[in-house]
Amino acid sequence: MSSLDAFACDALAKLDAASLRRRLVSTERGPEARAARDGRSLVSFSCNDYLGLSQDLRVIAAANAAQTRWGTGAGASRLVTGNHPALVALEERLAAHKGTEAALVFGSGYLANLGIVSALAGTGDLILVDALGHSCLFSGGRLSGAEMLRFRHNDLGHLETLLAKHRGKAQRAMILTERVFSMDGDRAPLAEMMALAEKHDAWVLVDDAHGLGVVETGAQAPLEMGTLSKTLGAYGGYLCASQAVIDLLTNRARSFVYTTGLPPASAAAALAALDIVETEPERAARPLALARRFTARLGLPQAQSPIVPIVVGEAETALALSKALEARGFLVVAIRPPTVPAGTARLRVAFSAAQSEAQVDGLAEALLELHPGMTT
Ligand SMILES: Cc1ncc(COP(=O)(O)O)c(C=O)c1O
Repeated sequence: MSSLDAFACDALAKLDAASLRRRLVSTERGPEARAARDGRSLVSFSCNDYLGLSQDLRVIAAANAAQTRWGTGAGASRLVTGNHPALVALEERLAAHKGTEAALVFGSGYLANLGIVSALAGTGDLILVDALGHSCLFSGGRLSGAEMLRFRHNDLGHLETLLAKHRGKAQRAMILTERVFSMDGDRAPLAEMMALAEKHDAWVLVDDAHGLGVVETGAQAPLEMGTLSKTLGAYGGYLCASQAVIDLLTNRARSFVYTTGLPPASAAAALAALDIVETEPERAARPLALARRFTARLGLPQAQSPIVPIVVGEAETALALSKALEARGFLVVAIRPPTVPAGTARLRVAFSAAQSEAQVDGLAEALLELHPGMTT
């Protein structure tokens, strides 16, 4: 065996021993929150398509029309091949939706955070990131070369202590957080954080990947990034900010400059989805209402977003519970370290407007039977 394969096998054996190995499972998604696996139709609670828009016929028609008219791929970076009108239209709509001067679309949310953070911060700067922030916030921070410190999750006291201690030495400072935390479903105290940031002249970046369209915006940050791949049912990432910041990133964000533009069909799909988000408020309210129905049934604290974690502790326990639910027709994936801290393996239950009340109640009943004494 080559040293390369020996290295891979050794690392995989360690993951297996700790119940942390991940495997891709062939799954076909369909309408009404359905997922087909091994010839069985499951109800999916493991998807970020919060409004079911990736399956919406209007969104699909918009993507099909764009693809028929403009083809499948973007051809090159937007700075090289030219700026596609579908992307311009989407950026204008995103900026209008968020109430900012401008917006910039990236290839994905992950790429957006890599590019934004590393373009705005560098050596001699300070980045403070919520300890439960998404992997791409940390990756962007590392790429920037700035000093990066984590503050305890949603702990403004800790954030202020770190600002008081380290801000003076740094040229510029950024605070990175999420509007809705992807694995916990809780929300950042943004109004208070923005006041603290202003006091210490720090720039707040809010990752709105799981908030757009499904929770109220509340306080707005100068850097509002997000993804087109969850509520908007498409693919891609974005930043909404001032015109000056967008112009700078168009020049400096390496994950924008040196990568191919988004396919026009993805932009058209996201644009059609944004129309639906804005014109169908009852649909947008549904995932949170279903999440609250679920937490009430289980006697858990009221859901703050369409994401409800059920923390079970060890990875094997989470895997076993997920498997037992699958046997009953529910797809609820187990989330294990390093996605979440050690000892906090969990089921992450994600609600969607495409689910029915009966499906939600069915999952609640199955969980009460399989795992009484639940906590979030
Ligand atoms: C909080 C958060 N930020 C960013 C991303 C990355 O977005 P994308 O999937 O568009 O790369 C995700 C999830 O994938 C996320 O959960």
